[in-house]
Amino acid sequence: MLNRFRPKYLSDVIGQNQAKKILSLEIAAVKNSNYKKKMPHTLFLGPSGCGKTTLAWAVANELGAPISMVQAKRLTSNKDIFNAIPIINGNPQYILFVDEIHEMPMKVQEEFYLVMEDGILDVRDFTTEYEKITGKRLERVTLKGLIVIGATTREGDLEIPFRNRFGLEVYLDKYSEKEIREIIQKARKKLLVDIDDEVLDEIAKRSRGVPRRSLSLLERLESVALAEGSRITMSIAKKTWDLLLIDDLGLTRQDYRVLKCLKEQGRMGLKPLIAQTELSASTIRTIEPYLVQLGLVKRTSKGREITNKGIGYLKNVEF
Ligand SMILES: Nc1ncnc2c1ncn2[C@@H]1O[C@H](COP(=O)(O)OP(=O)(O)OP(=O)(O)O)[C@@H](O)[C@H]1O
Ligand SMILES: [Mg+2]
Repeated sequence: MLNRFRPKYLSDVIGQNQAKKILSLEIAAVKNSNYKKKMPHTLFLGPSGCGKTTLAWAVANELGAPISMVQAKRLTSNKDIFNAIPIINGNPQYILFVDEIHEMPMKVQEEFYLVMEDGILDVRDFTTEYEKITGKRLERVTLKGLIVIGATTREGDLEIPFRNRFGLEVYLDKYSEKEIREIIQKARKKLLVDIDDEVLDEIAKRSRGVPRRSLSLLERLESVALAEGSRITMSIAKKTWDLLLIDDLGLTRQDYRVLKCLKEQGRMGLKPLIAQTELSASTIRTIEPYLVQLGLVKRTSKGREITNKGIGYLKNVEF
């Protein structure tokens, strides 16, 4: 479970200095006002595995506020929103963390405005025919202390009016190799086996700037080491990369599938690439920026194509 590595407080979060600064300031303001000032509704934007959920939990811990989490697409009515609210227990402020918030159904988004702006939630119950017709309100709940924290990997899919209702937007980005190294350096203390220093660089190199990836590799190394009754050495690492089919740059079979397809087909749009590789749109969207960053793939207005460097790279790979 990667949860064992999750930092609890902002001070334990590595990198993302701008984000930490803004959040600490708002948290200090709330605390100095003795919770009279409200923490603004906050939107975390950024790639998967880069710390959105981690920061939401850190904010809750710093504020001493209860928090609950829900996937936006599961909110299909006001009743769902109501059921998702955390147990308030007399706390002046409490957090509803809504993940992949761009997936919130349109109808619920509009209801959500009232919750965010006025702290009012009308819980209607459409269980009887009469209520279906009249939309009879069963209960109005006031939630003045409710802080909404939203997270999205797809900021372009968020409606502007919805987005505008967040007081604070916090951007998270990929991490440098040095920051990733720091993250695994901290995480190593929680491992059940020792790890040689040189392996940390090997992990950082293959993590594509994503903390979740680095920690997941660390866990796989731990498994192989435990299975072999060893500490995590370079030889355990080599064994693990071979087993997982991960190369020196952290590329996997999925990346190769994209590269090979582009080599064979020339320039391609997203849809044909999906059809040919049988990868999902979201998988391609997730893996492609790294291939571009490495200079193996080039994006143009007419699609993407493999570069000479990409073709050269493919020649040297074994799987
Ligand atoms: N800045 C950081 N410092 C230390 N550890 C981090 C940091 N960011 C992320 N992590 C670690 O990486 C793991 C994944 O991060 P997290 O779950 O917060 O990503 P996410 O942005 O919410 O991803 P998703 O969009 O897929 O939900 C966490 O378990 C945490 O241990
Ligand atoms: Mg998350």
